[in-house]
Amino acid sequence: MTDTNKTATLSLKGETYELPILSPTAGPDVLDIRKLYSQADVFTFDPGFTSTASCDSSITYIDGEAGVLLHRGYPIDQLASQSHFLEVCYLLLYGALPTAAQLEDFESRVTNHTMVHEQMHRFFTGFRRDAHPMAVMTGVVGAMSAFYHDSTDIHDPWQREVASIRLIAKMPTIAAMAYKYNIGQPFVYPRNDLDYASNFLRMCFSVPAEDYVVDPILSRAMDRIFTLHADHEQNASTSTVRLASSSGANPFACIAAGIACLWGPAHGGANQACLEMLKEIGTPDRIPEFIARAKDKNDPFRLMGFGHRVYKNFDPRATVMKESADEVLELLGVENNPILATAKELEKQALDDPYFAEKKLFPNVDFYSGIILEAMGFPTSMFTPIFALSRTVGWISQWKEMIEDPAMKIGRPRQLYTGETQRDYVDVEKR
Ligand code: SDX
Repeated sequence: MTDTNKTATLSLKGETYELPILSPTAGPDVLDIRKLYSQADVFTFDPGFTSTASCDSSITYIDGEAGVLLHRGYPIDQLASQSHFLEVCYLLLYGALPTAAQLEDFESRVTNHTMVHEQMHRFFTGFRRDAHPMAVMTGVVGAMSAFYHDSTDIHDPWQREVASIRLIAKMPTIAAMAYKYNIGQPFVYPRNDLDYASNFLRMCFSVPAEDYVVDPILSRAMDRIFTLHADHEQNASTSTVRLASSSGANPFACIAAGIACLWGPAHGGANQACLEMLKEIGTPDRIPEFIARAKDKNDPFRLMGFGHRVYKNFDPRATVMKESADEVLELLGVENNPILATAKELEKQALDDPYFAEKKLFPNVDFYSGIILEAMGFPTSMFTPIFALSRTVGWISQWKEMIEDPAMKIGRPRQLYTGETQRDYVDVEKR
């Protein structure tokens, strides 16, 4: 971020104010309004933050018009095809691709933190078996704040490092435990001789009654899905983690807040909602009915997995996910998956419809992910926990960047007040 010595002039109530213009390394310039209220006694108004930069960051860059997603400058399609998730975790956390030795050390540290405190198993038994796994993850990850007291001093760089590694390492274990608890099967402990994605698949799908060999096709697809969901600038759940952490709160509790936000169907919960929508549509002949509903202002129905606040031409992750769907389903021998056929026909008909073109609505990361996850054997209720598992590295990288910023301040937005002006209390007998 560079101060351009350029300013924007604001004329207000007979006064003029010079607002500094800050220039990024990529993307639109930023008007610095930090002194606006103290100078001009006015707030800016931007519910939903459609035009507001909440922070400066060097982790992820999105160009919504061009469909570009960079993690520390590296395009997502290159990372998805040439890298792997733990290497992307290193890149997001530390800002550069690791050397072979750095990567080996990082993977070893993550691998050796994958088990959870044995007493945490008891938290699961407090939930109903049919509890949504996202409810369980929100609760159990929040409970980590009651266990790992040696990594909660956010001003100690070593404790920040340990908390980061613990969260990246333990999230797959907790997500798998939530799944096993939901289906009434015993928890499966992680194994140190398996890579990150293979470990997660084994913790989800193996049973004590027989050996389980991880299918390398599934493991590669799982790892790619983790990479595609790792970070995404200042989305709702990341902004939640930043705001919660700005008070200096326990990092585990702040990540739990991010999980809660991600769960919403407008955000990470869309992958579950999208597959459920595709199943409700069923066959391609019913697509026009649902497209009509999505266009009907009187119908709250929206095409789940479509649209994005930032991407206005295509979501590069959806492009990679669609290619992966074709590849994984063919390799799994389910290339004639009727849901995939319906999804592709829905995408075609929607993109041919002026409504979606005019509103720049395209498939997002959640449109195809559920098709792959279901083909891999996951129930729809596990789709968002997998998104949360992946996004944990993004949340924790953004958290680390904020905590390490000497200019960090507690987040405290103001408001446009539309309520009653001051009035005197009236006794109940006189009301
Ligand atoms: C994620 O921010 C991120 O980066 C998020 C994410 C990440 O990696 O963190 O990318 C992950 O959350 C992806 C988005 C998943 N959500 C869905 O797929 C749910 C369906 N999509 C939406 O509800 C919507 O598109 C949002 C929430 C994604 C974006 O909403 P915006 O930017 O606030 O846009 P909007 O709701 O103001 O919609 C603009 C117009 C509206 O019509 P008008 O009022 O202008 O007439 O487009 C319409 C909307 O009605 N519209 C849709 C639509 N999405 C928007 N119409 C039909 N179907 C849709 N999916």
